[in-house]
Formats: sequence, C-alpha cells, structure tokens
Amino acid sequence: VPPRIIFSGIQPTGVPHLGNYIGALRQWVQLQHREEPETKLIYSVVDLHAITMPQPPDQLRRCKREALAALLAIGIDPDRATLFHQSSVPAHSELMWILSCTASVGYLSRMTQWKSKLSLAEGSTFEDRTVGSRLKLGLFSYPVLQAADILIHRATHVPVGHDQRQHIEFARECATNFNHTYGRHLVMPDVLNPPIHRVMSLTDPTSKMSKSHKSERSRILITDSAKDIKSKIGSALTDSIPGVSYDTANRPGISNLLDILTIFDAQERSSAQLADAYSDISPKQLKEMVADAVITGLDGIRDRYLELLAKGDAHLDKIEAEGARKARESAEETMELVRAAVGL
Ligand code: ADP
Ligand code: NA
Repeated sequence: VPPRIIFSGIQPTGVPHLGNYIGALRQWVQLQHREEPETKLIYSVVDLHAITMPQPPDQLRRCKREALAALLAIGIDPDRATLFHQSSVPAHSELMWILSCTASVGYLSRMTQWKSKLSLAEGSTFEDRTVGSRLKLGLFSYPVLQAADILIHRATHVPVGHDQRQHIEFARECATNFNHTYGRHLVMPDVLNPPIHRVMSLTDPTSKMSKSHKSERSRILITDSAKDIKSKIGSALTDSIPGVSYDTANRPGISNLLDILTIFDAQERSSAQLADAYSDISPKQLKEMVADAVITGLDGIRDRYLELLAKGDAHLDKIEAEGARKARESAEETMELVRAAVGL
C-alpha cells in the first residue's frame, strides 16, 4: 500500500475563528500524531483563492502572514507537514489550466458556491445587481483550482467539512475527465472523516459562526484574550427558560454553548449528558464554565501567535520558503507526468 497523502487548504482571510479551528484546523494538528509517520501532510494557505474577492494588496499580505502564524501557533509542525503559500507553487495554476480544458462548464455552474453568489446578486438592490453582472470568471472556475490543489500533490485524502464535500466530488470529476482523455495519471482523492462539530454564532445561534457575520461578538478568534472570550461568551444570546437543557430547535443558544463545552470536555460527554449534569445551573454559570473551557482549550495559541508575529517576517518567510520547496518538488512529480501525457 503506498503511503497516504493528505492535502488541505485554508484561505488567508484573517485569524481563524473557533468554528474554523474545531471544524477543520484542529484536525490538521491531530493528523500529525494520528497518522503513520509515512503519511505525507500537505497544508496550504490558498492565497490564489483569496483573490476571487479582490482586496487591497497590503491586506492580503497581512492576512497571509497571519494565517501562517496562526497555523504554526495551533501546532502545525513544519518539519512534519509541508506548509506553504499556494502562489509559491505556480504549478497549481498550470494544472488548473490543463484541467479546465477537460472540465465541464455544466457541472461547475451547478455548484452551490456559484449559485449562492448569483442569488445574492439577484436578491439585492439595483446597484448590487450591476455588481452581479460583473461576476468574475475566477469565482466561477475556482473549483478547478481547488481540484488542481488536491490532484497536483496526488492526495489520497482530503479532510473537509460537510459544506465542502461537493468540491471533492468535483476534484474526482476533474481527475476522471483528465484520465479518460490522457490516461490514468491522476489519483482519485477521498474525503477524510470530516469533523462533525459545527459551532454556531454567539449572537445568532441559528446560523453558523462565520467570518462573514457582521458582528465581531458573534465569533471567538483563536487568538482572542481570556478577557475577550469571557466577554463574548458572557453576552452570547440565550433564552429566558430557566435551567439548562439540550434542545437545538427551541434553545439554540444554550445548545450551542453545550456543544462548545463537549468539544473541550475531558470526559468526552455528549451535549445531552452535559445538560443532565448541569440542569440546575443558571445560564450565567453555564457561560462561565464554557468560557473557562474555551480559554483552557485555546491556551497558548494567542501567546505563540503574538510571539511569531513579533519575530518579524524573515522568520515566517524562511519557514514558508522551506515548505514551498517541498511542495514544488511534490507538484513537479505530477506535472512531469501530466505534461508528457498531454504532449506539452
Ligand atoms: P467562514 O464560514 O468563516 O467563511 P470558511 O467557509 O472559510 O469559514 O471555512 C473554513 C473551514 O472552516 C471549512 O473547513 C469549514 O467547514 C470550517 N468551518 C467554518 N465555519 C465553521 C463553523 N461555524 N463550525 C464548524 N466548522 C466551520
Ligand atoms: Na464561508
């Protein structure tokens, strides 16, 4: 059996929040210990994806640095995992072009990310509709780049949340189309047991915690101070029903707090079990417990993050350059096969 190769990427869109950490990034760290030493772990800050939404260059540069520092701060070990910025390996874009020449437009146009961006434009004011008419090609075709990210490293497994499953399906579709046309050179990736935890917004617990949410109090950043965590969880939206019970439909706020508590519970109790154990405490006491659990669970991340940023760019650049070197090597192995198969 050839060694497993695991690829995953995160967009440089600022410091990750608790949802990103629990839903994705914590698993990246855990894989370093859980997987066999032969398993290759390849983690990328996917900056080329970030420019599907244009932004000031200085902001992108800052976000890339912050994403890299955040990944190191949570415990990604650059000696164990290949950690790099996507744009440092131009072959990702080269493979994207080659894949797009055998990818189907129909399949892409049915993907929800694109459809949600379209309906966002349609449902908006006239002024926004003109924004809609200026929707960019990159936003339409970015799943092909995502497929290239995965296929270029011959990834066998991709850890993704539920909302990203169709992107792995599409990567498989791209591999199938290429292999059908040029021979079986690309490896079919599989989904790796996605984390099941979904963290909800603190201010609107019926929607998921997200960087897109306007209120900064809706999310906990993994680099928040203990004081900020206490304050945000302390003011989380709950209800006026006395006591604690687990009922996601009628008590989404309390249930979200219980869900967060399970994530960090040393005894690995379920949310319902925790609700039973703490049925008599007040929401205020529950919030204090949850805040303490989150503070302990994220302990050290903030300090390591600030330390890394204080060390300056040269230190982070050096780590990234070494990761990029390894990633280019891995990508080039595939590109030699691909170019030869296509006749380039
Ligand atoms: P956001 O919703 O803040 O824009 P992304 O869509 O960039 O986050 O997601 C990055 C990763 O974090 C994905 O793997 C996604 O499944 C995971 N993720 C995002 N928000 C949450 C959440 N609230 N709970 C659990 N996982 C999440
Ligand atoms: Na999102």
